Amino acid sequence: MNKAPDHKLQSEVDKRRTFAIISHPDAGKTTLTEKLLLFGGAIRLAGTVKARKASKHATSDWMEIEKQRGISVTSSVMQFDYLDHRVNILDTPGHQDFSEDTYRTLTAADSAVMLIDVAKGVETQTIKLFQVCAKRGIPIFTFINKLDREGRNPFELMEELENVLGIRSVPMNWPIGMGRELCGVYDRMKNQVELFQGDDHSVIRVQKVESYRDPIIREMAGEYLHDQLCADLELLDVAGDPFDYEKVLRGEITPVFFGSAINNFGVQTFLDNFLDLAPKPEPRRSTAGSVEPTNEKFTGYVFKIQANMNPAHRDRIAFLRIVSGKFERGMSVKHVRAGKDIKLSQPQQFLAQDRDIVEEAYPGDIIGLFDPGIFRIGDTLSQAGDIEFDELPTFSPEIFSKVSIKNALKSKQFQKGIDQLTEEGMIQVFRTVNFDDILLGVVGQLQFEVFEYRMKGEYGVDVQLQRMSYQFARWIVDDNKPDASKFRINSTLVTDKKGNYVVLFENEYAMRTAMEKNPTAKFLETAP
Ligand code: G4P
Repeated sequence: MNKAPDHKLQSEVDKRRTFAIISHPDAGKTTLTEKLLLFGGAIRLAGTVKARKASKHATSDWMEIEKQRGISVTSSVMQFDYLDHRVNILDTPGHQDFSEDTYRTLTAADSAVMLIDVAKGVETQTIKLFQVCAKRGIPIFTFINKLDREGRNPFELMEELENVLGIRSVPMNWPIGMGRELCGVYDRMKNQVELFQGDDHSVIRVQKVESYRDPIIREMAGEYLHDQLCADLELLDVAGDPFDYEKVLRGEITPVFFGSAINNFGVQTFLDNFLDLAPKPEPRRSTAGSVEPTNEKFTGYVFKIQANMNPAHRDRIAFLRIVSGKFERGMSVKHVRAGKDIKLSQPQQFLAQDRDIVEEAYPGDIIGLFDPGIFRIGDTLSQAGDIEFDELPTFSPEIFSKVSIKNALKSKQFQKGIDQLTEEGMIQVFRTVNFDDILLGVVGQLQFEVFEYRMKGEYGVDVQLQRMSYQFARWIVDDNKPDASKFRINSTLVTDKKGNYVVLFENEYAMRTAMEKNPTAKFLETAP
């Protein structure tokens, strides 16, 4: 007998929006996040998130290293309700010392908000994070921030999005003036103007108009700014891309919003439009095909493991993205890799750093599971049989260090630590072919620091790290066994933990030369 469709599950899925904010440090991510949480009533006071960032960790139990540096090593999750939506924001570390965790967190998002400083344009960390999102093909929305400051010309910024990131853009609104002259924005979709009023821009007046040529705007913004607005928008109407929702959903075009997070200007319009346009939880690929969120059988996957959230208890938290079905506290699920059933009794939900026990959760939600060491990144939990999700890509390391042990008597613990931390996805490990040195590869310097810290704290081993000058790793696939002597100049041949051959290169030139000299070989960015 066919079961009636689960309307409750469907409506819970429909109202969820799970996204990550990607940006370069200082673009205003903390400020924007805070404003969004304020709209959602999740925090009452401005400054709450800021205070967290400013290292006021008195009540926090994050890793020691995080306290010392006042940064968020971990990507946390914040949830709030706004209008008819339940919003999950995945926070990615804003510090330039980001790590593979940052990338992996993006796999748990269904869309991304790319935050850009109007004066700085597209910066390095944004490029990296954008590329990970673009590879997954998720919709990307752009918020150009700090409009209250003098910045670059909006057309120039759109051109930069296209030239640097390869994505075309559609402005949803357009600034009227900028910096000291900024008086508002014109909403191209709704045909309305939003004007700042008052010295501190705290009052915002919204006026519906016929079009951007409406004389009301002239009255409000003055002749000069109105002429400029008309000229810009005429050009956009003629030469700009039309808004094409299908293209937005495929990540081929990015809707752009202009605003100023600190003044709360343009933030609410952004949030309203974004929540309308952003996709609800998407299906995920598995070994049994695509799994729809509305599939009644609960499934989810672990995308991140946070060790030592509480050093006193040595606990670990596995972050699980729910893919389908309803989660209920205490439910039994199959841990597919381990081949056993486990009971999920103490799941946690996150708001900033306060952790609450969660009773039920739905697709798109992220829950934290207490982990006594049974989970690995990528593990699937399922009530839908032995399926496994295939969501977690590996990333090509870009920074390398040779690792050695200070006290040879500890070599057993050293090996154990390396094996476990590699397994966890904390670092990638390589061995040189001839000398059997151990090299570690990461995408962010911080991973080395966390590695060193955990080797000492969890395995009692002091390690020595010596930075190497390699910048690229390429997995080499060839019918013949690669010859180490061919990779001596500005490169070296190593093997990964599975014995695959990998060449590390010091620069692009060395890499290109090697490719030319070995035309039959394939050089892959990640393990085959
Ligand atoms: P991040 O998380 O992306 O690193 O950025 P964060 O929000 O901490 O913002 C970085 C700086 O930019 C902060 O200034 C913040 O106040 C400022 N900022 C954020 N949004 C806007 C905006 O819309 N306009 C302007 N003019 N500034 C903005 P700070 O001086 O580093 O810190 P603070 O002393 O203000 O806390």
